[in-house]
Amino acid sequence: MCGIVCYMGKRNAKEIILEGLKSLEYRGYDSSGISVLVNGKLKTYKKAGKLDELNFLLKNKKLNSNIGIGHIRWATHGKADDINAHPHVSYDGRISVVHNGIIENYSELKKFLKEKGFEFKSSTDTEVVSNLISYFYKDDLLDAVFKSVELLKGSFALGIISNDENRLIAVRNESPLILGIGENEFILSSDVSSIAHLTKNVIYLKNMDIVDIKKNYSIYNNRKKVEREIERIDIELSSPSKEGYDFFMQKEIYEQPDVIRKNIKSYINNFSIDLKNSFSKDEIKNFNKIYIVACGSAYNAGVVSSYVFEKYAKIPVICDIASEFRYKINFLDEKSLVILISQSGETADTLAVLRNAKKYNAKTLAIVNVYGSSIAREADKTLFINAGNEIAVASTKAYSAQILITELFALDFAYKFGKIEKKEIENILKELKSIPEKIEIILNKKSIIEDFSNIIKNKNHIFYLGRGLDYFSAKEGALKLKEISYIHAESFPAGELKHGTIALIEKDTPIVAISTDEKLTDKMVSNVEEVSARGAFVFSICTEKSKKIEEVSNMSFVLPKTIDIFYPIFSVIVEQLLAYYTSKNKGLDVDKPRNLAKSVTVE
Ligand code: AGP
Repeated sequence: MCGIVCYMGKRNAKEIILEGLKSLEYRGYDSSGISVLVNGKLKTYKKAGKLDELNFLLKNKKLNSNIGIGHIRWATHGKADDINAHPHVSYDGRISVVHNGIIENYSELKKFLKEKGFEFKSSTDTEVVSNLISYFYKDDLLDAVFKSVELLKGSFALGIISNDENRLIAVRNESPLILGIGENEFILSSDVSSIAHLTKNVIYLKNMDIVDIKKNYSIYNNRKKVEREIERIDIELSSPSKEGYDFFMQKEIYEQPDVIRKNIKSYINNFSIDLKNSFSKDEIKNFNKIYIVACGSAYNAGVVSSYVFEKYAKIPVICDIASEFRYKINFLDEKSLVILISQSGETADTLAVLRNAKKYNAKTLAIVNVYGSSIAREADKTLFINAGNEIAVASTKAYSAQILITELFALDFAYKFGKIEKKEIENILKELKSIPEKIEIILNKKSIIEDFSNIIKNKNHIFYLGRGLDYFSAKEGALKLKEISYIHAESFPAGELKHGTIALIEKDTPIVAISTDEKLTDKMVSNVEEVSARGAFVFSICTEKSKKIEEVSNMSFVLPKTIDIFYPIFSVIVEQLLAYYTSKNKGLDVDKPRNLAKSVTVE
């Protein structure tokens, strides 16, 4: 979480940093700030709120400087206000620091520094870093950074400048930091997206690397100079545009047919699956356990796909939330396959599970959107979901693409595992080819969804119900609505409601009932009747074959026909549009909901 951009070179540092922060807004947008050195003096500006606030503050300030550090924050310690915004300048005004991550032992360090007479202004963990460096600083900033970093515990990417030296120092530990090397200029950032317009030559810093930039750069690890490989990034960046849509989320929902088409082109060869970078038949035969681990929507996509492994490969799958899985006893060994799903490829908990799995010699597969991300680079195999830039915090096109790619992997796995015939795969792929057009049909029927959004927009609670695969879709629908409309939404296996939660149903409580499995339609109809009898207002998502549910619902949306494993991709389009319209009709910031960040890089 949080984003860092630091610059030293021939251009105006303020301009470069502000431009870089713009592309890091997905990492947080509670507050932002910069420090630059103007004639050997630190000038620091910071502001609570979105980046526009900082841009406004700096609008008429020239700030003639070629060296600076910048930050965009997602608050962990201390509320989102001007004082807690980064950079944090040491008590004596000599050192300025931006930080991404968490200093876990900050209270001990703060106590120590206070005893030495240092005073603190903010409630952040970061302020101890600038004060600690100042405490050690005699006449060599690098030496002071070495001594300070040795005392820090936790995760930290740091950018550091001082009044006393024309020098930029950066540190990377657990939180990502990339060094961009241009011609007589250097840029450091949490993500290549804010580097690529300056240079394509980058170094992905390793844990505990310390970069020292003066006229040139040196990298140290454990106080020893080290060489790191310069890699060429292969991305062309165009500034994201809404292309006529009101919000990025809306645009991204509408891009889903094309994302599926792109993946069909990449991974389907006539009627066979060709994942290119996957495990061989022998490797697959060696596995006896599969784990799918992820967070948030990526986890929901994982649960959907686990059904495909179990149905076709006949292998049990454990699907878990990364922040839980990382602390469990989980029997990983060389016969385990751990699948990590992540849009950003930087989610701290998911990355920790990946690293842990490798320690136990388990094989790892990453299903990722962002090229060059930590998870994509560190896994044994990586499959990209080809969703393109996802800007809105609420995941939409990445979610459906995650389902698709994990399902394709599961089918390929089942085939190599000898559990499914080629013919059956061919039939599934034949159906897959029709999915983009069918999504377009759903998108064109949006008006009924908008009508329902007007019914729920002023409600405080809503329940999503489903059985089997539809329950997994219910989970994603509830998450989507919560995160952007701030309505409390909960998902339940439809049969579970009467074990307690039905007590909450009263007149006009909205319910979304998802029913795509013909075998379970009668059960779903009964569950809908149970809530209707208590006054609930039911919007059902069903198919021609489960249409019976329409008769007991107040409103309904009939999905085009497909096979079981693709219905979650259809249901979610309806759920995404529902969340989108509800948020929009409430006048909320659809793309940047409160308290959230696109990429969660802290535990
Ligand atoms: C989804 O809408 C979210 N905002 C969130 O749950 C997200 O899916 C989760 O944080 C995982 O992110 P990742 O895919 O980048 O790992």
